[in-house]
Amino acid sequence: MDADSAPRVIAHRGFAGAAPENTVPAVEYACQHDETDMVEVDAVPTADGTVVCFHDPQLHETDDSRGITDADGTVWETATDTVLDARVLGTHATVPTLDAVLAAIPEGVGVNVELKHPGRAVAPFADALALADPTPARERWQPFVADVLALLDDFDRRVLLSSFYEGALAAVDAAGGYPVAVITGESITDGLTTAARYDAAAIHPHWHHVSGATERTVVETAHERGLAVNAWTVDTWHRAAALADAGVDGVIADYPELGAWRDRHPAADDGR
Ligand code: G3P
Ligand code: MG
Repeated sequence: MDADSAPRVIAHRGFAGAAPENTVPAVEYACQHDETDMVEVDAVPTADGTVVCFHDPQLHETDDSRGITDADGTVWETATDTVLDARVLGTHATVPTLDAVLAAIPEGVGVNVELKHPGRAVAPFADALALADPTPARERWQPFVADVLALLDDFDRRVLLSSFYEGALAAVDAAGGYPVAVITGESITDGLTTAARYDAAAIHPHWHHVSGATERTVVETAHERGLAVNAWTVDTWHRAAALADAGVDGVIADYPELGAWRDRHPAADDGR
């Protein structure tokens, strides 16, 4: 596999396996690697609507949050100052605004903003895509999405907005002007249905949906529909190699250089 046909690399939370995720230092680290095509970050609002980059609902440890900061609170119910002071994973890096993250991305590198939570009630993942009536979900996401897009309007590099939630994608689509990617969750079928509704640029499936017996079907079906396939979350070189073989367009990776080992040491022609 040569560099031209290798999947593009999207640095997951700024290479979360190698740097404190979703922070400015992580983004800077990711952008030091020439292979990085885009940096992926998770976007959520604070209590006053400031858009910050953080993955878990809570700053502290709960059933659904890992407790990766030294602060307490649900992000979208917590004052901005408290959120921005929270140190991530025992480092000096703090939770950043999306604005600060965008400012850290140099020319030539794009951003994949994952619309993680709008700061108000959302449906469970199981009921997040291929909605019978997307209008209420779109209305729930619209204020947060408007704030994100206002920041991106001043960012003159490549942007891709992704979400597990149709409401988020519908709100982006209604505003116009930005490509979207559907994070397909458990149902590829629902993901493809949703992708068609909003003329998505890509689907973002978990790697297990594009590995094994169905890998060619999913990738080929997406390609036939004009969709790129960027698989998450890739944390080993052999997973990256398998996904490259499956024909994915991008890997959303936790570490840099996962594609490099096989490029440097290709198998001999006899396959050994
Ligand atoms: O965008 C792909 C991936 O980031 C989605 O999962 O939980 O890591 O945000 P998560
Ligand atoms: Mg994410």
